[in-house]
Amino acid sequence: MSTVRIAAAADLHCRLDSQGKFRRALGPAADEADVLVLSGDLCDTGQIAEAEILAEDLHEVRIPKVAVLGNHDHECDKAAEIVKILSHAGVHVLQGESWVFDKRVGFAGVKGFAGGFEDATLQSWGESAIKTFVLESVNQALALEMALTKLDVSGFKTKVALTHYAPVRATVIGEKPEIFAFLGCSRLAEVLDKTGVTVAFHGHAHRGSLRGQTPRGVPVYNVAMPLLRAELNDRRYQVITIDAPAHGDRAWQPSTPKPPVPEVPSPS
Ligand SMILES: [Fe+2]
Ligand SMILES: [Fe+2]
Repeated sequence: MSTVRIAAAADLHCRLDSQGKFRRALGPAADEADVLVLSGDLCDTGQIAEAEILAEDLHEVRIPKVAVLGNHDHECDKAAEIVKILSHAGVHVLQGESWVFDKRVGFAGVKGFAGGFEDATLQSWGESAIKTFVLESVNQALALEMALTKLDVSGFKTKVALTHYAPVRATVIGEKPEIFAFLGCSRLAEVLDKTGVTVAFHGHAHRGSLRGQTPRGVPVYNVAMPLLRAELNDRRYQVITIDAPAHGDRAWQPSTPKPPVPEVPSPS
């Protein structure tokens, strides 16, 4: 059994005056981890210039990098350009896609969306504006499910999910209860449970809680940088180690046995 160390952070909110800030903050992750996860709000106001400054810093963080965008990255409607800029710096930005690290760990990611949790999840009913809002939440969950299912079909047992919005209520606790519904949605957690994800990371809730889990026990980490700094003695990222057998090991083969084919009784 081998392991993979994941350094995870979110809510960098890179600004025009942030030159060098994230090289210093995230550079040490290259010595402590095998891969760096960034769960959205990479830029502060979604400007191309912010992405360029961040890309320059991330280029110097010498480990594989995988990310999703956050709501702030969409503020100027320049998401496509931001993805391109970060890609040139070696960041795999997932928008409903998957990416495989070292032939061992499959990563799938979406931004996610708001909508609320558990029995308080907003449903598609009434005005068309509400239906449009809920549809975005459903579409984001579906995109995550498709990306994770592709990894399943390829035989990957170790799967990591990245979102910006929270999949569970537990990791937004600490924020004002009045805004919980705007910080994430249980539809994402349903996907994590359905697809048997190993671990999930998100951000967005700067004053939330570090760790929670889905109803079926998938560990969920809120890695918003302001939260890590406040709760973990000024740390800029959290390092999580997961078991990750090499592709081709027996443990990687689909483990669910096919149901036995019922014997057809021979005609008497
Ligand atoms: Fe944020
Ligand atoms: Fe956010």
